[in-house]
Amino acid sequence: MRSRKPLVVGNWKMNGDRASGERLLSALVKGVDAALGARVGVAVCPPYPYLEQARAALEGAPIELGAQDVSSFDNGAYTGEVSATMLLDFGCRWAIVGHSERRALFGDDDEAVVAKAGRALEHGLGVIVCVGETLDEREGELTETVLARQVGALKAIGSKADAQRFVVAYEPVWAIGTGRTASPEQAQSAHAFIRARLADAGFAAATNTRILYGGSVKPANAESLFAMPDIDGGLIGGAALSADDFIAIARAAANAQG
Ligand code: 13P
Repeated sequence: MRSRKPLVVGNWKMNGDRASGERLLSALVKGVDAALGARVGVAVCPPYPYLEQARAALEGAPIELGAQDVSSFDNGAYTGEVSATMLLDFGCRWAIVGHSERRALFGDDDEAVVAKAGRALEHGLGVIVCVGETLDEREGELTETVLARQVGALKAIGSKADAQRFVVAYEPVWAIGTGRTASPEQAQSAHAFIRARLADAGFAAATNTRILYGGSVKPANAESLFAMPDIDGGLIGGAALSADDFIAIARAAANAQG
């Protein structure tokens, strides 16, 4: 039995519409019962416009709500941004921060990532901070250098981050949406490295911090990944759009718990 309760989070990315969201949410509410919810934390992160629909559909279910990003600013003249307090107002428990797609396409650098995470934590919103290397970086044997830089940049929030509200997701960029998963051993080695760097960066809660793996997690590979001692669940993209697959992955995390 591990001390860290596993967590499985669905990142819907910019997919779906109101009707498909309704179907997915109602299937999730049916499939994730209290018994499963007691063994594994489950959360979904729909696109912003669908948060209220999801909040209403998930009411009373053991499934938490999250957003895919959050502003580093408090409410004010920041066109297009969504603040931590707005997300809390809509029942969000989590915000994903620093996803590689945001880092690569929308200019979220290490500085923006720590500012967003810090602002969210200040307001009591949990964060799932994503880190991970590109294929070029892995092939250039720079994986640990990149992870050390990305985790080291979080130093400023180390003292604000408790294990309930601060989660890291290791998402090797080359494994996202490619069907090419990190092997359990590759992922375990990155997770152990991240945990050690968190401790070095002043995260008192490093031992209790959940570190999720993300990148082509499917029902078929989930169990072997989650069996690794430092892999505490998953951040799921494509497979989170299928209720059956997502629930199977949540079950795999619960089973890995022992
Ligand atoms: P896939 O599961 O589709 O590879 O996406 C992973 C991811 O980016 C989750 O945030």
